Amino acid sequence: MSNRSRGPRYFVEGGAVLNGAVRVSGAKNHVLAAMCASLLTDEDLILTNVPDISDVDSLGELLVSLGATVERPEAGKLRLNARDVRVFEAPTDLISENRASFQVMGPLVARHGFAASAPPGGDVIGQRPIDVHLSGFEAMGATVSRDGERYVARAPGGGLVGTRVFMDYPSVSGTQNVMMAATLARGRTTIVNAATEPEVQALCLLLNAMGARISGIGSQLLDVEGVPSLHGATARIMPDRIEAGTFAIAAAMTGGDVRIHDAPLDVMDALFTKLRAAGARIEVGEGVLRVSCGGHLRAVSFQALPYPGLATDLHAPMASLLTQAAGVSIIHERVFDNRMLYVGELRKMGAEIVSTGSSAIVSGPTVLHGATVRALDVRAGAAVMLAALVAQGRTVIEEIGHLDRGYEQLDSKLRALGVTVERT
Ligand code: UD1
Repeated sequence: MSNRSRGPRYFVEGGAVLNGAVRVSGAKNHVLAAMCASLLTDEDLILTNVPDISDVDSLGELLVSLGATVERPEAGKLRLNARDVRVFEAPTDLISENRASFQVMGPLVARHGFAASAPPGGDVIGQRPIDVHLSGFEAMGATVSRDGERYVARAPGGGLVGTRVFMDYPSVSGTQNVMMAATLARGRTTIVNAATEPEVQALCLLLNAMGARISGIGSQLLDVEGVPSLHGATARIMPDRIEAGTFAIAAAMTGGDVRIHDAPLDVMDALFTKLRAAGARIEVGEGVLRVSCGGHLRAVSFQALPYPGLATDLHAPMASLLTQAAGVSIIHERVFDNRMLYVGELRKMGAEIVSTGSSAIVSGPTVLHGATVRALDVRAGAAVMLAALVAQGRTVIEEIGHLDRGYEQLDSKLRALGVTVERT
């Protein structure tokens, strides 16, 4: 048995038509940033609607290694406290597990004047530099140096100083990192070309609930008026638009009819537009999204873009859907330079898809067949899971640890919708 086939796997029987209801969990990309924000105060930060995903566990471990306490008083709830944080250096093995962990840097350097970390890990989707984070800290007066593999940031004696920070790229975690640092800087920081993703907005609201003074929320120009200290707060993690989108795509491509509860309806326009163009029916009700598809799907082309464009995290799942659509679809990835890991796996299942650089061309509809495939990153994993739903026969998905990073109870949620899926 090869190394990579060890560990848990999914066995998925193809041919299900998804029917019923599913509830969306809390958003991975909100909760991870919110957990890092706990480092900005001595007081308790209480988070509810926390998803049970492995990225939360690994970031929790990292915070504990710094001296914080991370408790789960009940399912879906986290109580974080950073009063006793005495270590300002993120352990390399934990930082390499997910990219969001690098967001401990901003809070640590702002509050304690020192932070060190190896470059962050996470999915292998492109070069994923961190220059935007580091130049933001430097603009606020920090010195950033490289010590072996670690980045070391030091604030000047009087702490970080508010300033105007231009983001060379509207990086999501870069904006969050710099913004968190700016909450405790002296004076005002203006972040120009800030990311506007809903999870960034949600972090702004959480920080304001902790006593920060951030305005311009949702725009590309964030103003952060520094304050001497932040206090505790309680916040609900917003629902995961990517998980909601993944179920919406699954409903459409299997010709099903699924009610998706707690979907963040106001931030999913790009996906709704593309699914409707492909022939799906989208009904938006009180807190419920209903997605169905009675007829044949049509090819649609799209670009994966920063918000409010179609999320790059839905690129691979959409590509799976397009294998079932009649005609030729063209996909352009505009956010990451290596989002194409799913292409080879879908080809193993019979998909007619080719990629060149950051573009892919999908011809459909094709009859997919079960195969042994790998979840090569969290969203590539979602793509093969979706393909498995419509494939003839059984698909074995290996390396599903990647799916565990971002999808809570994926197998039981799919089972409730009528899919035969087992985890070993
Ligand atoms: C976050 C999300 C991820 C999502 C992505 C884009 C988290 C934990 N992850 O990742 O799910 O796919 O946003 O919506 O929130 N870049 C730079 N310089 C930097 C930082 C980034 O050039 O300093 C570039 C990257 O190479 C990439 C692009 O910016 O091409 C997007 O990256 P970024 O927005 O930083 O994504 P993440 O925050 O890592």
